[in-house]
Amino acid sequence: MAKEIRQIGVLTSGGDSPGMNAAIRAVAREAMHNKCKVIGIQRGYKGLLNEEFKEMKSVDVAGIIQMGGTILGTARCPEFKEEEVQQKAADICRKHGIDGIVVIGGDGSYRGAQALSRHGVNTIGLPGTIDLDITCTDYTIGFDTAVNTAMEAIDKVKDTSSSHERCSIIEVMGRHAGYIALWCGIANGAEDILIPEKYDYDEQKIVDHIIINRRLGKKHHLIINAEGIGHSTSMARRIEAATGIETRATILGYMQRGGSPTCKDRYYASIMGAYAADILVQGKTNRVVCYRNGQFVDLDIEEALAMTKNISEYEYQISQHL
Ligand code: ADP
Ligand code: F6P
Repeated sequence: MAKEIRQIGVLTSGGDSPGMNAAIRAVAREAMHNKCKVIGIQRGYKGLLNEEFKEMKSVDVAGIIQMGGTILGTARCPEFKEEEVQQKAADICRKHGIDGIVVIGGDGSYRGAQALSRHGVNTIGLPGTIDLDITCTDYTIGFDTAVNTAMEAIDKVKDTSSSHERCSIIEVMGRHAGYIALWCGIANGAEDILIPEKYDYDEQKIVDHIIINRRLGKKHHLIINAEGIGHSTSMARRIEAATGIETRATILGYMQRGGSPTCKDRYYASIMGAYAADILVQGKTNRVVCYRNGQFVDLDIEEALAMTKNISEYEYQISQHL
């Protein structure tokens, strides 16, 4: 028989992302609706090991849905990969009467959740990252806000780039994945979109493209470069030398991770947070909540981590035509 869940914890882990607060609020309120006590665990797995716990009442999550970042704080905790540390964390949960935990983070954080589940603490993962690089889900909490923030910033750089008839290379985040670059590249009307999944490192093609566009009378040439390719500043220097056209690099950086979440991120994070609390209370463990083919579903963590996903070939091809 599944163990009775009377008290749950919630933590955020890995890089923060806009919408995490909406998810925390939904986990807490739905758990309370299910007559569960809720413990906010500060600073991810680090805080769990340091017993940084605080009971959360409904009022403690009031007024946070519109806030960027995470009210619980987040941290990386490399030692959580060690078996004894995982055992210690599970013992701490038992000592405090924490029957289950919702972990909001990326796939690294899911592995931590999986370990806790193995040691007898029920866990549910929620996909929190701006990178959209979690393979089991079509949506991750924070991606929508991040691409909107980046898109607005890129529009601004494009204005000045056109006025000065310059070429601009704008580097966006995404770790090893090109989703942010592809979305912004299409949404900002970039002339070139460089993503790690497709880039062939043939800079001459970019140089030729810039020269052709200039001959056609285009006043700007916008290149969106993904962080996974990087080196935007040196690329700008080489392109300027090869084309004779002033070229500037802008690295957008951490601004993409902050700010008030969009409606989509607030809505999806709320539904996913409530879903996580519901299945945790039902006694499920070692699951992640995903959005797949237009539906919110839960999957076994093992199965979720084994999945693969790729940038759509069709969408990438279209980005090259536009
Ligand atoms: P993300 O969750 O965004 O992918 P990380 O990969 O940095 O970010 O992982 C966040 C945290 O999850 C790590 O600092 C660590 O505490 C935990 N973690 C990552 N990988 C593992 C693993 N293999 N086993 C247990 N815990 C892990
Ligand atoms: O995963 C989110 C992200 O912002 C990535 O896009 C980026 O590569 C990474 O985190 C940066 O991490 P850190 O905060 O450790 O510098």
